[in-house]
Order: sequence, then structure tokens, then C-alpha cells
Amino acid sequence: MQVVRKRKKSFSQKNLRKASGGLRGKILLDALFVPENESGYQGTHIFHPYPGRFHHRLASVILDQAMPEARSLLDPFMGGGTSLIEGQLRGLDVRGNDLNPISPLIVEQKLRVISEEECEHYAERLEDLAESVRSLRLQKIHQEHSRFLATYYPPHTFAEMLCWSHTIRRQEKGPWRDFLRALFSAGAVKFSQLRDDKKAQVKRPRGAFSRFMEEKGKQLLEAQLEQGEEVPEETVSPSLTCGDVLDLDLSQDPVDLILTSPPYPGTYDYSKHHELRMRWLNLPMADMEKKEWGSRRNEGLKGWQRSFQKVLQAMAKQISESGRIYMVIGDWVDGETRIDALAYLRKVAPKAGLSVSSFASVERENFYGPHRKAYETEGKWEHLIELQRA
Ligand SMILES: C[S@@+](CC[C@H](N)C(=O)[O-])C[C@H]1O[C@@H](n2cnc3c(N)ncnc32)[C@H](O)[C@@H]1O
Repeated sequence: MQVVRKRKKSFSQKNLRKASGGLRGKILLDALFVPENESGYQGTHIFHPYPGRFHHRLASVILDQAMPEARSLLDPFMGGGTSLIEGQLRGLDVRGNDLNPISPLIVEQKLRVISEEECEHYAERLEDLAESVRSLRLQKIHQEHSRFLATYYPPHTFAEMLCWSHTIRRQEKGPWRDFLRALFSAGAVKFSQLRDDKKAQVKRPRGAFSRFMEEKGKQLLEAQLEQGEEVPEETVSPSLTCGDVLDLDLSQDPVDLILTSPPYPGTYDYSKHHELRMRWLNLPMADMEKKEWGSRRNEGLKGWQRSFQKVLQAMAKQISESGRIYMVIGDWVDGETRIDALAYLRKVAPKAGLSVSSFASVERENFYGPHRKAYETEGKWEHLIELQRA
């Protein structure tokens, strides 16, 4: 099924070296194309920032052109849920997992299909809640980690956020509270004064956080409603889990398609990005600290390679006979040496019973100073790799 988007976007791709190979190489190359401006309709994709998110166009090109026959999709590192949203829009049975508890919290909202009545009801409840937050008296509020959190916000913003956090905690557990928690999470970093983020130094007037909660909430509801109308009626409810990919039960029904971007060595450090959110929402951080793949903090190339091999094996068992895996992965640096991720996959995939059947690679800019030398000659590349059972 081809999903028609509401407005057209313009694309351009300048000064990039690129390469592709295999039956679907050209399609994969097209999928790696990043739109230059983002003025078009993007549904719930734009709700809540998430580091390392791939562009939703990548997922839509794979689903429409490389694998239109797919009926089920798994993303074991779902992050912001890009592949799941596009899968759900096409009526696929979508399953997602992530170690970071922020991920299922927000992906649930991004996949939520609501009726017009629910949309109106939630919008009214949000207005009432904002009203009751404004009348709260601060001295009664207890917040876990408040000393730590207070250092990141101007006092008036912190006070307002405390009132919201307190009010949300007192809501009954369930979809309404989950909706509010996801909204709060979307504002937690935006309103902070993280030292390394110049944009965050913007002075925000009193009442700005409440306005954010109301406006963002209404935007999300509209996006849920509009997007939900495109989801085919018989689509099964998404299944989302939170945990280490190595503990994932991959022995359930096989899927036609795995579309994912695993963290690769030294690239990301998600718990840093999400620490404020997790502390406000009192979410467990221990797993992220110990088990997050690829972070500079947990670096250990050998450990990553072992885990990656195990996951490749598990994924090979999880796809149906004619199923395929599409993986976005970039080059990385080992010591002083650039590791070509495509060459690496070609080497390790056969040990998991898989083979690289198509690929596309695009050169990307390296922003990490200490790796400049390693990428000087060959450049840093991002790859979209198709794997099939060997
Ligand atoms: C590159 S991001 C995925 C982004 C996603 N494709 C998107 O478009 O939003 C990689 C994800 O892997 C997750 N992750 C890291 N270590 C993990 C582990 N051991 N088990 C499961 N997920 C893990 C991170 O929390 C992060 O969300």
C-alpha cells in the first residue's frame, strides 16, 4: 500500500559521495536521501526529540519500494519509533523494543490512534489541568531528585515544572497519565539550561511551561487523530517492550521485516540526553548506564562486537524464510583506524547465517574532533544494508 502524504517536500543532495550495489541498491540509495527542508506534514514523527533518529522518509522508501509485501515489522532498537510509525501507517503488525524507558513512553503516543471524541475530551481535560496547576501552592510539593533538577532551570521555570510534575503524578495510572508524562518529557530538556546547548539560554517568561504543555498537547492530539485516520482499520495493536536487546524474546512469530539502526561503537550516549527526563519522571536509569550499546561511556569494542554478533544471530532466526533485515549503520573508529561498517557486516553476517544482498552508502560529515584524523582519507560513511538468510 502506498501512503499518500498531505504535502510535498523538496529534496536535494549536494556534494556527497555515494555508492550502491545489489538488486535493491538504488532504492536503498534513494532511502538515504535526506530532505533539505522539513516544511511538509510529518504526523507524530516530530513529537519529542530523540537522538540518532533516522529520517522517516528512509522507512517509507523501504516499505513502499523495497518491501511492499511485508506484513510485519520489528525494530529491536526503536528509539523514537520512526520505522514503527511508517509500518503502522501501512497496516503492518509492528513490534518495537528499546532499552531506554523514554522510548516506549513516547512511541506509544506516536502510535496511538484516537477518535475525534477522545481528541476533544483530552483537549478539555488538558485545559482544566492547566487551570488547576496554576492554582497550586509550591511549598506542598515533594519531587525526587529536586536538588539535581533545580540546577538546570531558572527558578520560575523550575517552580512551574514542579507543579506540573506533582499534578501528573497524582493522576490515575493509565493512558491519560501516560499522555501527560510523554508531554512533560518533551519539554524537560527544551526548558533546561544545559551548559552545552546555546539555544537553551533563551529566557522564558513565567507561564511558558504551562503554555507549552497545552500547545504541545493539542498538537499531539491533532497529529494522533490525523495520522490515525490513515491507519488501516484491521491493523493489529503495536507491541512495545522496554529492555536489553539481548534479553528480547525473539522466538515469537517470525517477522517479514526488521528495520533498525543499532547503536555502533563510540557514537551515542543516550542516557546523557535523557537524564533530565528520566529523573523528572523517576524512571530507572541503571540499565541505560550498564547496558547501553555503543556509548563512549560504556566503550568496549570487543563487548559490542560480541553483542552485535548475538543479535545478528537472533535476528536471522526472527525473520521469515523470505524476510529481510534493513540496517542503518555508520563507520566507526577503533583506536586510530576507521572501520568500514559495510565491510564489517560482510565479514560477520555469514557467521549468523546471513548475507549482505544490497547496500547503499553515503558520505556524512564527521563532527567528532578526535576522529578527524581517522576519517581524513576515506571519509565517514553511513550505510543502509540489506541482509537476507544465506
Ligand atoms: C540509533 S537509535 C535508534 C533510533 C531509531 N531508529 C529512530 O529512528 O528513532 C539506537 C537505540 O538503541 C537503543 N539501545 C542502546 N542499547 C540498547 C540495548 N542494549 N538494548 C536495546 N536497545 C538499546 C538506544 O536507547 C537507542 O534508542
